[in-house]
Amino acid sequence: MGTDKDPLLMSILIGRKGEAVSGEEMAQTLGISRVALHKRMEHLKAWGIPIRSIPRKGYILEGVPDLLIPPVYLALLKSHHIGKPYHYLEKVDSTNRVAKELSHQGAPHGSLVVAEAQTRGRGRLGRSWFSPKGENIYFSLILKPEISIMEVPQLTFLVSVALTQVIREKLQLDALIKWPNDVYIKGRKVAGILMEMETREKRPLFLVVGVGLNVNTPNNGFPLEISTRATSLMVEGKRRYLRPQLLTWIMEALETWYERFQISQREDILRYWREYNFTLGKPVKLQGGREGWAIGVTPQGALLVRRLGGSIISLGAGDVEVVE
Ligand code: BTN
Repeated sequence: MGTDKDPLLMSILIGRKGEAVSGEEMAQTLGISRVALHKRMEHLKAWGIPIRSIPRKGYILEGVPDLLIPPVYLALLKSHHIGKPYHYLEKVDSTNRVAKELSHQGAPHGSLVVAEAQTRGRGRLGRSWFSPKGENIYFSLILKPEISIMEVPQLTFLVSVALTQVIREKLQLDALIKWPNDVYIKGRKVAGILMEMETREKRPLFLVVGVGLNVNTPNNGFPLEISTRATSLMVEGKRRYLRPQLLTWIMEALETWYERFQISQREDILRYWREYNFTLGKPVKLQGGREGWAIGVTPQGALLVRRLGGSIISLGAGDVEVVE
């Protein structure tokens, strides 16, 4: 028997919240023999999942481990087409690179690549992304929408809105968006998005949405050069967060927003982006030192900045510093 029944097994154990579940009951539910069940349990333990066997009582899950391994992630996942198939890697150069490769090989819409660590995590504008092992979430989602290139920025907005909404509503932390799509908490960056695409005849062949979310890096855990600008959910919430649970919430939120995007509720995305952003209405410094006021954002994702002399410029890409 393959590993396809492991998520079901895990969801039964998670559902019982630390109580023993009899081997007989589980074997019956899964339609497998007790011997096969025993093998599956050994396999799950080998992943590092704390399962205890108690003679004559059954199996107990002693806590959901903070691992992004497939049996745990898939047991928690409630989305239907975003976030699977699931490609889990312990260490990789960049999940975006793997996702692009998989897209070329025909990976379906919704496929997700996740790594516990990246050796060359990439950020926007040629920057790198801090990706230590086991602390945070690094994922690349493959999307194959039937849209024009003009509509792609709305998809990036969708991703920052979904991320911000999960952090605000599930964790009660005050996350906000900085143009174009960085997620901040109390003036420090907690998540970033690197969207890459390949096109054919002016239409996207596929998109790779790369997301880095700082989850459990401690305050003194960031490299010096970003230590005053970066934060993590743990630093802000003063507790550790369970990454597999967070990742499944993000996939579920992305699915909900993607459905709205498809049925043309695009103004909703922009409305939420505007509600969550902290760039509009503020003085901003542009790259190169120029200054102005951020006065609006176009549906194509450009930031409108009024210069001191009154002229308005439209920034299609890049970065700004918000002057608080
Ligand atoms: C940014 O500069 O704000 C974007 C950061 C994006 C980082 C993520 S981590 C997972 C994926 N793989 C990468 O190499 N980069 C993205």
